[in-house]
Amino acid sequence: MLTRILSLLLAVLSFLTFSPLSDYDYSDKLGDENYIGFKDCYADYFDIGAAVSGWHCNKEDISAFLLKNYSSLTGENAFKQAVLNPAEGVWNFSEADTIANFCRENGLKLRGHCLVWGYLGSWMTKDSEGNLVSKDVLLQRMHDYITTIVTRYKDIIHVWDVVNEPFGYDKKDGAFKHNDFLTICGEEYITKAFEYAHEADPTAVLCVNETTVLKKQKKQDYLLKYVEKWVNEGVPIHAVGIQSHWNLWETNETPRRLQKVIDKLYEIGVDIQITECDMRIDANKNDIFDTLPRNIELLQSKKFSQMFEVLRRNKDKISSVTFWGINDNRPQKTADGEKYYRHELLFDRESMPKNAFYAVCDF
Ligand code: GLA
Repeated sequence: MLTRILSLLLAVLSFLTFSPLSDYDYSDKLGDENYIGFKDCYADYFDIGAAVSGWHCNKEDISAFLLKNYSSLTGENAFKQAVLNPAEGVWNFSEADTIANFCRENGLKLRGHCLVWGYLGSWMTKDSEGNLVSKDVLLQRMHDYITTIVTRYKDIIHVWDVVNEPFGYDKKDGAFKHNDFLTICGEEYITKAFEYAHEADPTAVLCVNETTVLKKQKKQDYLLKYVEKWVNEGVPIHAVGIQSHWNLWETNETPRRLQKVIDKLYEIGVDIQITECDMRIDANKNDIFDTLPRNIELLQSKKFSQMFEVLRRNKDKISSVTFWGINDNRPQKTADGEKYYRHELLFDRESMPKNAFYAVCDF
């Protein structure tokens, strides 16, 4: 009996003293202005990118922060069709040009995001009376749009998210997420978009970009099945973007499942890019913290660190890791209009490295 009690006590004690979270505590480093830039930590691995808006590039302190930490940028919204070409004949290149020029002037790479996002709906699918157009009309419009945009940024955009979020995961959607492009063209709206982009720039890396790839197994299955099929059919798809908007508490978003999908995509023969990385910390909608509680910050550091261990291990299969935003200064609004923050990135609201940044860079 005594031995049993003792061994139980020992087990509890060893659990308490062996506190894995303390391995991810970098409080001694916080506040150091002379930290090593993120892109430099990862120079031997892959490009480190961030999604930006045009004004980030024009603001001196922010642009210096970008140049220190990122080797690649993407437009958060500036290169979406809803911004570039919101209505037939209406073009708005100014924000996209600002970002493109910033990259040109400073030797940064630029990821194009995104040419076709059916989910958002688009003037392209409707006629002046609001009825769906024919397949020929839609394909012609897509062709002209893709050719215009890809050609305009050909010198600086080396990789395009050609189609964003095409796959479904529930019975209603089937393999493809329902949208007007799909209704009009079927699966061809995806394959034709790749052909048009390839025609406009035969050297660009062309990517299908998908969300919740780990969280929704059904969606992952469709993604793998169709990418393999299209690659075998000769469709110019060169890469898969795993968006990676992770949640700290999501049990399907694990290093092991990340490794598995990387292996499967590698077998298919496509490049892998992490395109929209972040990690939200809310377990439910009541989890609103102005300051990140220390225990959650350590958990987030641990999960980010484990994720990046997998990414580094697979550096030959992954060409870039892009974060969805530059820092935590991304206010959101609750349903009641209350402002809150998600604390989802590696830099705080003042652009200083968070604990999780050091956890990701300590290897
Ligand atoms: C998707 C899109 C992005 C962005 C995010 C919003 O992931 O691909 O462009 O709109 O949603 O968080």
